[in-house]
Amino acid sequence: MKLPDRHGQTASPDPRGLPPPSAGEQAHSARLQQRLREEIAARGGSISFARFMELALYAPGLGYYAAGKHKFGAPGDFITAPELGALYARCLARPCRSILAQLGGGDILEAGAGSGALAADLLLELEALRRLPESYLILELSNELRDRQAGTLRRKAPHLLKHIRWLDTLPGGFRGIVLANELLDAMPVERFRIAQDGVRQLHVAWEDDRFVWREKPADEAVRQRIEPLALPPGYTSEINLQAEAWVRSVADILEQGVMLLVDYGFPRAEFYHPQRGDGTLMCHYRHRAHDDPLALVGLQDITAHVDFTAIAEAGTGTGLSLLGYTSQAAFLIGCGLEQLMSASDPEDVRAHLGLTQQVKKLTSPHEMGELYKVIALGRGIREPFPGFADHDRRGRL
Ligand SMILES: C[S@@+](CC[C@H](N)C(=O)[O-])C[C@H]1O[C@@H](n2cnc3c(N)ncnc32)[C@H](O)[C@@H]1O
Repeated sequence: MKLPDRHGQTASPDPRGLPPPSAGEQAHSARLQQRLREEIAARGGSISFARFMELALYAPGLGYYAAGKHKFGAPGDFITAPELGALYARCLARPCRSILAQLGGGDILEAGAGSGALAADLLLELEALRRLPESYLILELSNELRDRQAGTLRRKAPHLLKHIRWLDTLPGGFRGIVLANELLDAMPVERFRIAQDGVRQLHVAWEDDRFVWREKPADEAVRQRIEPLALPPGYTSEINLQAEAWVRSVADILEQGVMLLVDYGFPRAEFYHPQRGDGTLMCHYRHRAHDDPLALVGLQDITAHVDFTAIAEAGTGTGLSLLGYTSQAAFLIGCGLEQLMSASDPEDVRAHLGLTQQVKKLTSPHEMGELYKVIALGRGIREPFPGFADHDRRGRL
């Protein structure tokens, strides 16, 4: 089943229909290909898909997120909510303000901050609302993106740079808000297929000058999780054990506060729906979506949708409360999107049109409004959590 991509387009089934990479891009991809082939040889002929995805996206200096590709926005491969304009950040600032007020202070930690657009716009709005966090911490795997984030913040909010600190790992303890937009979908997933005799895990090998799929008996961790789902033979999909482990690590350090995660995905029953028998892997290259993650290594983004039931269970299993779950559209409206819109001056045609376009992208059910979800997990926080008051879908998880 093909799903709408980040722009609401339908994925092209044929990766050969993609625009051809430049000579420089091909040379870059060949270097990463070599790195992957060495790893495959060293591991006896194949690596798990999760390891392939990890290297394709994050191998230092070579992976998609770790080298110089533009990635976000019009000149890149895909667009995310913070890249559309400041409206998304201005909405998120409302729940952040009330949590920081409830805590009487605290920090914000953004994981996977991309270009730094959300950090800059959120801080500017919190400053306007007179509720700046004590510190704004950014946890980012990619050195190249850290530099880009610093550049964005220097350009958009130079006077707020003193609040910002980059981290290599999660801090030992944390009070405040952990925020991540489209982080979980960028974490390496294991891919599996149901065979007549049980669960098989998909590996990647090198054969006839290209990467190919290999089936292996599933690791215990994958088998234990997939067998109870009783999926039919032939069913192929993903499981994101790294995202669950990440949520547990954040829960471990969260002394008081909230983890607010926004991404595209579904509750488990929809994620492993019989009609989604090919899984949810999606690749983005120059604003075209397709479903072959073994192509264009290092040049394209690779993502999988999020099983939000698994994320909720990882959090509640580590002692957090599930504070809310809903669609991005419902959440942003709950955060005051309409009031922000009505405060805009329709006489300023350019600005008003820009805002209208952002609202459409962020909330339309055919764009990001319905496929994207927001989940809040927390400790020591009073309910109701702002943004979920009217359309809480916790019961569907
Ligand atoms: C799809 S991009 C989203 C970027 C940004 N949040 C946005 O919405 O535009 C994923 C981001 O997560 C980062 N990332 C992936 N895994 C991470 C991890 N384990 N810890 C921190 N950052 C990570 C990537 O380097 C990248 O910045």
